[in-house]
Amino acid sequence: MKKLLMLMVLGVFLLTGALLWASGDGQEQEEYDEDTYGPKDPIIWVKPVKSVVFEHKVHTMQGGLECDSCHDDLFEMEAGVAEENEDFTMKTLYEGGYCGACHDGSTAFASNTRCTACHIGARGQARLLGADGATEKTH
Ligand code: HEC
Ligand code: HEC
Ligand code: HEC
Repeated sequence: MKKLLMLMVLGVFLLTGALLWASGDGQEQEEYDEDTYGPKDPIIWVKPVKSVVFEHKVHTMQGGLECDSCHDDLFEMEAGVAEENEDFTMKTLYEGGYCGACHDGSTAFASNTRCTACHIGARGQARLLGADGATEKTH
């Protein structure tokens, strides 16, 4: 009886160890590398309208895009530059500028569809900054 108990205790020990080891390993693989994929925090513009989001992760890690498909022809490597431009509008996007270079319905979904994929609104912004623990970075 005692032996059986010992075996059970040992079993639980081994199982816990294996689970901890497995989860630790998994986390390492999930780690987002900013050198490889660009800044981790989402970039959020509030001009001319609140709030439009851009995430490097979606484009580089998931979409497989290289840095130079956007930098520096379409965007500077500095958050908040584009929104200082007068022409950072839907009209320019529809004409193939900025995001519209790809969001044209062939490389990626068109800029005149799925408004809320890019426009997350003030509430979406609050949710994103809160939930992800991202630093407050609004431009
Ligand atoms: C699909 C387009 C796209 C790709 C691909 C892309 N970026 Fe960016 N990146 C942007 C945009 C948009 C901004 C914000 C520019 C602005 O606000 O004017 C930005 C901003 C940045 C910034 C400045 C962030 C800050 O907080 O000031 C850095 C650094 C950067 N990118 C690095 C990279 C690196 C490194 C890669 C490749 C691994 C990359 N980017 C790939 C679109 C892209
Ligand atoms: C160099 C090409 C390129 C540029 C420039 C680009 N995107 Fe994308 N974007 C993609 C691709 C490819 C995908 C993934 C395929 C798709 O969803 O159609 C994507 C996906 C997205 C998604 C994910 C939608 C979802 O499925 O949840 C959002 C949001 C987005 N882009 C916003 C932007 C914004 C905002 C800009 C401009 C600041 C931008 N993108 C500029 C190529 C680009
Ligand atoms: C691919 C991303 C993307 C999609 C999809 C998108 N927008 Fe935009 N939108 C932007 C960006 C980037 C700006 C400029 C930054 C800002 O205003 O914060 C902008 C700005 C705007 C503006 C203010 C400037 C202007 O053009 O008057 C309006 C209004 C707007 N969008 C409406 C819409 C509507 C309506 C839809 C859907 C039919 C839509 N957008 C879809 C990215 C997008």
